[in-house]
Amino acid sequence: MKRRKLRPQAVVALIVVILIFIGVAFLIVKNKKPALSMTFKEEKTVIEYGDTTIKPEEFVESFTADEVIYPKLNTLKVGEYKITYVLKSKKKEKSVEHTIEVKDTYAPEITFKQDEVEISVGDDYDLTSNIESVKDVIDGEINYKETVNEDEFNYYTVLSEVDLNTTGEYTVNIEAVDSNGNHSNTSYVLKVVEKEVISNPDGDYSSGDNQPTYINGILIVNKKYGIPADFGGYNPEASGALEELQLGASQAGYSIPLISGWRSYDYQVELYNSYVATDGQEAADRYSARPGFSEHQTGLCFDIGSIDDYYGETVEGQWLAAHAHEYGFIIRYPQGKEHITGYMYEPWHVRYVGKDVAADIYNQQITLEEYLGVSG
Ligand code: DAL
Ligand code: ZN
Repeated sequence: MKRRKLRPQAVVALIVVILIFIGVAFLIVKNKKPALSMTFKEEKTVIEYGDTTIKPEEFVESFTADEVIYPKLNTLKVGEYKITYVLKSKKKEKSVEHTIEVKDTYAPEITFKQDEVEISVGDDYDLTSNIESVKDVIDGEINYKETVNEDEFNYYTVLSEVDLNTTGEYTVNIEAVDSNGNHSNTSYVLKVVEKEVISNPDGDYSSGDNQPTYINGILIVNKKYGIPADFGGYNPEASGALEELQLGASQAGYSIPLISGWRSYDYQVELYNSYVATDGQEAADRYSARPGFSEHQTGLCFDIGSIDDYYGETVEGQWLAAHAHEYGFIIRYPQGKEHITGYMYEPWHVRYVGKDVAADIYNQQITLEEYLGVSG
């Protein structure tokens, strides 16, 4: 068969057609947008709990899209989550998920009231009483546990053992663990020291010439510890504290009037003798101090509210028992403690000892005698 020769015009036309075809194909490819996509730096991004500086943009390695709508991050929720990025082009939209993990790496924070605590040998002391707070950013307030199992979380405990009957300097180690297993360990110093006694113990209960006794700076006056006849007087600090207490009571809606504050030695002579005349000495000794042995002579105590055996059951009396320590006072002769204090229950008789001591005595529910380690 004889091959027909292409005419030159036809060759040119063919080339033109091919060029047009290539040009159109090129334009189509050029204008075609690549698919919407996103890649991340890590398969899973780990974030610190509460991190407010981190942004979802930072997790992205690259993307192909005209517009990206970034997800919102909640770093206040511990755990593994998926977040969704939305990729947009003119005509298309695509969601891309990414896994994040919010991790709690913060240990609980233990704060103490004091770095160093001093107590007297033999004192009953709760090693946790110096703890101001144990808080965790996630768990909030963490509670005390006396004994803990190995796999336990969300507690604080005392690791150290202290012999309160032996003087020395102890390190009290507190351990706290949050619900995610983060540990913290902090300690304070506990000094167990000898009691400082400036004294004249076992005074003569029938005389008014006993020297005052101070134990760790606290004046003790009871049937065993007397004071000289000319000792004492109005005490401005105690009286000021009483005014604060009365103000606190009135703010709570109660009235707690002063009935008897400072009493002179001579007045106590009159008072005691009149009780003896009415009830006999044995009975009087249970509720009235002999001259030279009454706290009233010191100016540090007050009979307030109402001299009534049932005062402790009234709302005022109960408010007083629950709040006196906040103003530096203790109920000096509590119920059921006559064998220790030497006196019957007096819900109206408060003694000023200062706020710290009052709080200790109140929290331990003990008498001043027990607190100071003396008999009454
Ligand atoms: N009523 C107390 C004991 C006093 O007379 O001091
Ligand atoms: Zn009194």
